[in-house]
Amino acid sequence: MTGLEVEIAGMRLRNPTILASGVLDETGKSMLKVANAGAGALVSKSVGLYERQGHPNPCVAEVECGLLNAMGLPNPGVEAYAAEIAEAKKGEVPVIGSAFGVDADEIAEVAALLCAAGADAIELNLSCPHAEGYGAEIGSDPDNVRHICESTKAKVSRPVLAKLTPNTSSITELAIAAQDGGADGVVAINTLKAMSICPELRMPVLSNRVGGLSGPAVRSVGVRCVFEIFEAVDIPIIGVGGVSTARDALEYLMAGARAVQIGTAIRSRGTDVFAEVCSGLTEFMSKNDYRSIQEMVGGAHHVTA
Ligand SMILES: Cc1cc2nc3c(=O)[nH]c(=O)nc-3n(C[C@H](O)[C@H](O)[C@H](O)COP(=O)(O)O)c2cc1C
Repeated sequence: MTGLEVEIAGMRLRNPTILASGVLDETGKSMLKVANAGAGALVSKSVGLYERQGHPNPCVAEVECGLLNAMGLPNPGVEAYAAEIAEAKKGEVPVIGSAFGVDADEIAEVAALLCAAGADAIELNLSCPHAEGYGAEIGSDPDNVRHICESTKAKVSRPVLAKLTPNTSSITELAIAAQDGGADGVVAINTLKAMSICPELRMPVLSNRVGGLSGPAVRSVGVRCVFEIFEAVDIPIIGVGGVSTARDALEYLMAGARAVQIGTAIRSRGTDVFAEVCSGLTEFMSKNDYRSIQEMVGGAHHVTA
């Protein structure tokens, strides 16, 4: 026992760091590398029923304090991706399959196929901001979120986590809808809809014009979302957005997250970021007399505004 173990929707994680969807998870081998580097769980690349090419280049751009991407959900289709899940499972940490689709039936079907491939849980991508007809376009409406969660829960027997968009006036309404639809947890946040323009060329930098912003720039938004969701639902929350140090992870834990996902930070810090965050958490816990991660979850909620 290290004191870093957490439980989320029946899944036992050796520590609260999780690989975020879309980064180093195109193949089973790359996910395995992240598991071997110390992550507590892995989320797969978002996959759909059919192969998709995604958007043409340029689809990634560095901006100050973050990264803009408009990958457009490229993937080989769930059946072709199944072997990657099987390979990732050799890492002996929970593998969460990320599913997207055009509607509730399609998403539930993808989720069922991911479970058949061995996924220990499902993350519903209801939040990608740069793929027409998918993600945030269907996940910004609470009724849709509820219906998609219900349909997926009816089709799979593994835990279902709803990944929510911050590109909405009320992320708590989406979280409540997910809980009402039977989701076992929520994940907040996906990227913020954003764009960058090259003045010399007088054109947007990304081929898709708009993309999603991630990295340090979005952390305060993510922490605020988790804080608000914690006060609105009883199901577990996973925080994501701009985590690259133990201190960043602690912000999310104190806001109410039981675990954090890490994506963009891998670009600058490599896969060592998982072990570094864990050792920083251990140090903080020993200095501040915390015996478990759970003791810190929601710790910042005793203060009234
Ligand atoms: C290049 C890239 C690709 C991504 N692809 C996906 C995806 O396929 N599905 C998804 O749910 N989120 C995707 N995301 C969003 C991340 O999972 C995460 O929610 C977001 O980047 C914020 O976390 P971070 O700041 O740690 O990167 C992607 C992010 C990046 C940077």
